[in-house]
Amino acid sequence: MKTQIGEDVHIAAAFLKAGELVAIPTETVYGLAGNALSEESVAKIYAAKNRPSFNPLILHVANIAQINDYAFVDEISLKLAEHFMPGPLTLLLPKKTTVPDITTAGSKKVAIRIPNQRLTLDLLAQLDFPLAAPSANPSGYISPTNAHHVMEGLHGKIRYILDGGNTTVGLESTICEVANNIIILHRAGSVTAAALSAISGLDVIETAAYHAPDISDHSTDSPATPGQLKSHYAPHTPLFMGNIEELIHAHIGKKIAVISFNNRYEGVDNFILAPDHLLSTAASKLFATLRSIDQSNYDVILSEVFPNEGIGIAINDRIGRAQFILKH
Ligand code: TXA
Ligand code: MG
Repeated sequence: MKTQIGEDVHIAAAFLKAGELVAIPTETVYGLAGNALSEESVAKIYAAKNRPSFNPLILHVANIAQINDYAFVDEISLKLAEHFMPGPLTLLLPKKTTVPDITTAGSKKVAIRIPNQRLTLDLLAQLDFPLAAPSANPSGYISPTNAHHVMEGLHGKIRYILDGGNTTVGLESTICEVANNIIILHRAGSVTAAALSAISGLDVIETAAYHAPDISDHSTDSPATPGQLKSHYAPHTPLFMGNIEELIHAHIGKKIAVISFNNRYEGVDNFILAPDHLLSTAASKLFATLRSIDQSNYDVILSEVFPNEGIGIAINDRIGRAQFILKH
């Protein structure tokens, strides 16, 4: 199969209507989209990504009214939707039977969001079905933030890549669930726990906050959110996160790439993500930087722990999950 890149929403719509897969831009990362109501199309998504069948997909819809077609929406979730959508927030909601079980990997809950990207909103408006779309990378690798990244991982496996340029946010959406008068944060993103709490008036439990991983424990079973496997978003080059001076000392003699917020270190190649000192800039550049380092011949990637506030929490979460985990 030949994979084409283009900016034509009509071509993208035609392929999707025919049951084919199309990569779509969003404000977070590119998605690998198919008709969420077609078991055949959804099966193609799992196959193209080599994704485990127990890991459910997010539904992408055009507007808030459509959420009601696929899920039961409580008052607080509606309030969050009205405030944050279209935008980088995914709500986990009780699913209606309109959504096939394969799309949610058998779960009674469905994750739904409205991406804030012009081409993809146009595309969704032309379709009479929602799009199931995981990030458009082979399972386990770093999420794509431009059409070229998608091509690297999925050429030959999908028909079309709708090119919307570089994504603006650069990290996957925040995933949350309203339950018993609290909000459960399943995945950190640019919509922060503090923002969710401010809008809803509820406390937020952060199951997704970054904790330094115990490297003796590389278990990947029973994650709170099925997709939250420990070694995720991972480059092939081993990555370690922490105090850079100490890490450099521990890796003396190796060819080292250092990822930093805005510090420069001696004797290594520096990849400074935010010369402007903005965490949002760092977030937007993180995945592309990891990819380009991975394509050069470094022995090891060392990363700072970023300021753990705002979207910095999500940055630390992703870098933490990308860390090298010892295999027995
Ligand atoms: O920003 C994003 O959310 C991007 C763009 C393309 O929209 N999508 C994305 O999808 O990151 P994916 O599949 O790479 O990550 C979705 C996460 C996975 O960890 C999955 O396990 C979880 O959402 N998820 C989806 N549906 C779920 C459900 N019904 N119950 C629990 N977790 C769910
Ligand atoms: Mg993903």
